[in-house]
Amino acid sequence: MAAPLIAPSILSADFARLGEEVRAIDAAGADWIHVDVMDGHFVPNITIGPAVVKALRPHSAKPFDVHLMISPVDAYLEAFAAAGADIITVHPEAGPHVHRTVQAVKALGKKAGVSLNPGTPAKMLDYLIDEIDLVLVMSVNPGFGGQSFIASQLRKIEAVRKMIDKSGREILLEVDGGVDVTTIRSCTDAGADVLVAGTASFKGGPDHYAANIAALKAAG
Ligand code: DX5
Ligand code: ZN
Repeated sequence: MAAPLIAPSILSADFARLGEEVRAIDAAGADWIHVDVMDGHFVPNITIGPAVVKALRPHSAKPFDVHLMISPVDAYLEAFAAAGADIITVHPEAGPHVHRTVQAVKALGKKAGVSLNPGTPAKMLDYLIDEIDLVLVMSVNPGFGGQSFIASQLRKIEAVRKMIDKSGREILLEVDGGVDVTTIRSCTDAGADVLVAGTASFKGGPDHYAANIAALKAAG
């Protein structure tokens, strides 16, 4: 099987040198750049907004995979699209109407993703699967990097894989949280196509990024 795509989360980068960090992780073999946007309300942490995404955009030509952990979310979609997001992923709980939110992302010409928290069932996708381009299964509760992988989510990854295959549509299955060389294989075995990795990509500093990503790909 082909190596999985790796989407390093810049949440684990040095925020004082974010442009350089994006260039370094891109050169090290990142497939996508995963951008975690948090509002201190939907999740208990605050990160960055569209101005930072816009500032980072010239530093990489790789897809910007923007994971919005904000509520409400609709009012900000346009700003993230204009800032250079390629994929915009939202949580159904961010409300109020996830189907409408997905339509809005697509109307902006961007790929639409829906993210399932550890407590959110795969069934949530039943009436969205025909509309979306990506499913993001959270293998930690959203809010922080460096948490431990929640193994119960493997069953959900398998269930989502089946739903995607049954749909016959081109939908990518991404997994986010606690992904490292010890957990990545269980995700790909369960059907994941894209793995977010923050801690595991950025550990050790720029001299280690290429080896970190290569190790993830080899283990996956
Ligand atoms: C968590 C974020 C993740 C996180 C992953 O809310 O969505 O993208 O940064 O970090 P690691 O890979 O360190 O678990
Ligand atoms: Zn994320």
